[in-house]
Amino acid sequence: MKPRVIIYKKVDQEVLDYIQNTCEVVYFEKLDSQNYPEFLQELKKAQGILGSGLTVDKRLLDQAPELKIVCNASVGYDNLDVTELSNRGIMATNTPDVLNETVADTIMGLMLSTARRMPELDQLVKSGQWSSSMGEKMFGLDVHHKVLGIIGLGGIGTAVAKRARFGFDMNILYHNRSRNEEAEQKYEATYCSMEELLQQSDFVCLMTPLTPQTEMMMGEKEFSLMKKSAIFINGSRGKTVDENALVTALKTGDIHAAGLDVFVQEPVTDDNPLLLMKNVVTLPHIGSATSETRLKMAMLAATNLVAGVQGETPSSLIKKSVKIK
Ligand code: 8YV
Repeated sequence: MKPRVIIYKKVDQEVLDYIQNTCEVVYFEKLDSQNYPEFLQELKKAQGILGSGLTVDKRLLDQAPELKIVCNASVGYDNLDVTELSNRGIMATNTPDVLNETVADTIMGLMLSTARRMPELDQLVKSGQWSSSMGEKMFGLDVHHKVLGIIGLGGIGTAVAKRARFGFDMNILYHNRSRNEEAEQKYEATYCSMEELLQQSDFVCLMTPLTPQTEMMMGEKEFSLMKKSAIFINGSRGKTVDENALVTALKTGDIHAAGLDVFVQEPVTDDNPLLLMKNVVTLPHIGSATSETRLKMAMLAATNLVAGVQGETPSSLIKKSVKIK
């Protein structure tokens, strides 16, 4: 009997074919209030699930007696209660490394478009407001040769440091739970305290996972330590930032601008004040959103799933989750 699994996000046909070679697949392109009851029905018999963003906690796991493995098609796993999974002997996996370069491109894009006001000036040109007398009204800030402070220098942060150092001659400061020798040697990244990083950086780029320790780590105090000419970039999770404090810092001029790929509420609600600010560039959480990288992420998640339901150790097991029952 083939192990029964649920795929609850849209994946490429080759990913489905690969999983169907080994498993009986129940496929939901996306979960919504319509099909969620059916999903819960199927969960009763599922040995594995694959998707991203679904909250997997005690309440859900109580309805999944056969579950052996939970596979995130994302590097972040703040949606998983890993302790609860580990207590139940259920493995959890994510998709690290395969998205590093793509997300780093997005971050550089956010830095450039925020500093050079590209979306705003794109709108200005398209709305016919471009006049030859604009002069410094369309000036932005340089990115090259500036100081980039990276908070959370993991795989993605390191890929950003590489681009910033070799592509833009930027000086790299970083703050992290542990030293990153590779980035120090290759990209002359300098380890420093959070305070020094905030005070000395022209760009502050937040790339940490969302954990109880990093939740709201950027608040009023942190923004007040930044330079008034500094630009804040968030490529981590919305909840690592006190969004109200960010709005205030932008309104009062405590910081110059912000480039955001993530928000506390996603999709962002249309009454979010950040949406009305010219000095804020907003993206719909597209860090890893290229067809090439999303395929790599889905295929890695699929290999984790197939390994897990066959009693093997998946290649990107979240260390805190345990091996098979
Ligand atoms: C995912 C991400 O695509 O990998 C992550 O942690 O944030 C993105 O790459 C997103 O989580 C999908 O929901």
